[in-house]
Amino acid sequence: MPLLLLCLSLSLLPFYSSAMINDRPIIGVLAQEVYQPKPNQTSYIAASYVKFLESAGARVVPVLIDQTPEEYRALFQSINGILYPGGGVSIISSGYERAAKIFYELAIQANKRGDYFPVWGTCLGFEQLMYLTSPNSTLSHSNTSGVALPLNFTAATKDSRMFKGFPAELMEDLASEPLTENSHQWSLATSTYNTNEDLRKFYKVLSTNTDGKIEFVSTVEAYDYPIYGTQWHPEKNAFEWSRPYIPHSPSAVKTTFYMAEFFVNEARKNFHRFESEEGESRALIYNYSPVYKGPNSSFQQIYYF
Ligand SMILES: *[C@@H]1O[C@H](CO)[C@@H](O)[C@H](O)[C@H]1NC(C)=O
Ligand SMILES: *[C@@H]1O[C@H](CO)[C@@H](O)[C@H](O)[C@H]1NC(C)=O
Ligand SMILES: *[C@@H]1O[C@H](CO)[C@@H](O)[C@H](O)[C@H]1NC(C)=O
Ligand SMILES: *[C@@H]1O[C@H](CO)[C@@H](O)[C@H](O)[C@H]1NC(C)=O
Ligand SMILES: *[C@@H]1O[C@H](CO)[C@@H](O)[C@H](O)[C@H]1NC(C)=O
Repeated sequence: MPLLLLCLSLSLLPFYSSAMINDRPIIGVLAQEVYQPKPNQTSYIAASYVKFLESAGARVVPVLIDQTPEEYRALFQSINGILYPGGGVSIISSGYERAAKIFYELAIQANKRGDYFPVWGTCLGFEQLMYLTSPNSTLSHSNTSGVALPLNFTAATKDSRMFKGFPAELMEDLASEPLTENSHQWSLATSTYNTNEDLRKFYKVLSTNTDGKIEFVSTVEAYDYPIYGTQWHPEKNAFEWSRPYIPHSPSAVKTTFYMAEFFVNEARKNFHRFESEEGESRALIYNYSPVYKGPNSSFQQIYYF
């Protein structure tokens, strides 16, 4: 009998907590132009970003390029956060940039009225966020296309939202082992950040790195908004295998999971929803099948649109 009571009271817990958090978060992942488009393959999302979010309990909706502002506004009201992936398109003029700018501006406005809407940028997405916050900030060339590095944490990390839930041992491993994979030729030099008032006021730097010549910003969170960026790739450690410099150690894979858990928990604080269950079903990424790209592709699987 006491056992039965225990079971009953436990089963009530999710009911109570669901009043305070959204435990069915849906996160948009932005698509981008395919470099050499084919019929029916004009834009794509690497599946690792989808798996990254799914691994922490979110579902994913692809945010396609070249939609109308009205379509983006309706989608914004239906999803609980957005992720701008890495890739190779222009952050100044592309379908990726146009969509990223609309969602960034909608997110700023929403957050100002207390509608908590998180935004995440990885690699190109990080660079896109910097450009959206300060269009006249310039990136610097760096020798970082294919190298795993330890993070050089700043003093601000200890009070950050992003790393608050990370176990102390994992923080030590992140600071001492090459667990963060970099695949970029452009970086935000720390010296650029330090002399750019717009960026300095907006973002707190949580880590830096160096290629031996220039020191660059590698992790940020915005002071007043749930906007986050990593120049490195948290999703690759668990889900991409075709490059020898991607780390797969237990701590590397934990890094993927803790970053995903952090961002998905941010999305749980948002209560946007689709107008109907049918609309939600039609929008989910389950409507598309990822394609296996073989052993030489930098992405194991890709969704094409
Ligand atoms: C493109 O997609 C449509 C709809 O799924 C299909 O009917 C058509 O055969 C596809 N074309 C090519 C070239 O794959
Ligand atoms: C770039 O960095 C790699 C190590 O990651 C090093 O082997 C290479 O010499 C560097 N290249 C230049 C041009 O500095
Ligand atoms: C970490 O960053 C600090 C501050 O910029 C710098 O003085 C230090 O040399 C960096 N350490 C490494 C290992 O790059
Ligand atoms: C960016 O450019 C605008 C217009 O030229 C200028 O007003 C602003 O101060 C610049 N911002 C930075 C951080 O340099
Ligand atoms: C992958 O790359 C290797 C080495 O360049 C090459 O021999 C092989 O044919 C490639 N495989 C595919 C499926 O493209």
